Amino acid sequence: MLPRIEEGPASIAGGVLKEGALADQQGTATAGEPEVLRQTQYKDSSKLARRANIHKYGRSPIGWFDWVAREAQLPDGADVLEVGCGPGWMWTAEGFSPSLSLTLTDISSGMLEEALPRVSGLGRYRAVAGQVADARTLPFETGRFDAVLACHMLYHVPNPGRALAEMVRVLRPGGVLAVTTNGDDNMGEMYMLAHRAWGAPERDPAGLAFGIDAAAMEMAPLLSGVTVSTFADELQVTDGEDIVATLTSYPPGDEATEAQLATLRAAIAEGMRGDGAFHIRKRQGLVRGIRLE
Ligand SMILES: C[S@@+](CC[C@H](N)C(=O)[O-])C[C@H]1O[C@@H](n2cnc3c(N)ncnc32)[C@H](O)[C@@H]1O
Repeated sequence: MLPRIEEGPASIAGGVLKEGALADQQGTATAGEPEVLRQTQYKDSSKLARRANIHKYGRSPIGWFDWVAREAQLPDGADVLEVGCGPGWMWTAEGFSPSLSLTLTDISSGMLEEALPRVSGLGRYRAVAGQVADARTLPFETGRFDAVLACHMLYHVPNPGRALAEMVRVLRPGGVLAVTTNGDDNMGEMYMLAHRAWGAPERDPAGLAFGIDAAAMEMAPLLSGVTVSTFADELQVTDGEDIVATLTSYPPGDEATEAQLATLRAAIAEGMRGDGAFHIRKRQGLVRGIRLE
């Protein structure tokens, strides 16, 4: 059992609580956001799980995390850093080589408390350690890792360019950086429902904040051989309440009024009238590059 990790400057490495690592609280206009995120949205995995549930309706023959394992092309035996690991679900995918040694990091101690026992409990990887860390100030020496992965997290970082520079810094020359995010057209049919019901953005907020194109543009000057792979799928949602659960798992949907929820449910029912399913097209991507010598 891992120790309870108090909010505030602290880190865990190999399950041992240590003082220290949560750095950068200094002042940009958005510097408070990571603090809010780790204490609310990502205090634990419950809200993320509510959103992730909708992906069970996907039709792709390969699951998302196995696809990431295939496209990231991590070198055998690599010493890998994951930034923003969340509850560590990704490493349960069988596509990753057991030869990897993993260092899991997240700004949320609650997420790490879930991720570390989950991933080390698999008994599959060469080594598993973890530490609370902000992507903008990674507490690792320059050139320490063979590969860095940052999956669906850079859109939360107030200055993603700074986080990318940190990820490149901790990579050895020739090491691999792989970043995943959404296209701004991802799940547009679903976001349009939220737009109509309570005026949320018409498009995927993550894709708008730091989508596939932004990732490719920001990574191109920092790395060599930058490539973009796309994961396209279609969800055929047969229980409309799973859409409601997704859209009410984060602001402003988490404070939707009864009238707004009724509008949402009516629009979902209308969309399901044809064949009994609400169709949502997904477009996610992985951007990969190699650290220059
Ligand atoms: C959408 S979840 C993705 C989790 C996991 N990578 C996955 O793909 O399932 C985003 C994660 O990024 C973390 N995060 C947000 N801002 C961060 C930051 N500045 N530094 C490190 N982690 C951060 C959150 O705590 C959360 O666990």
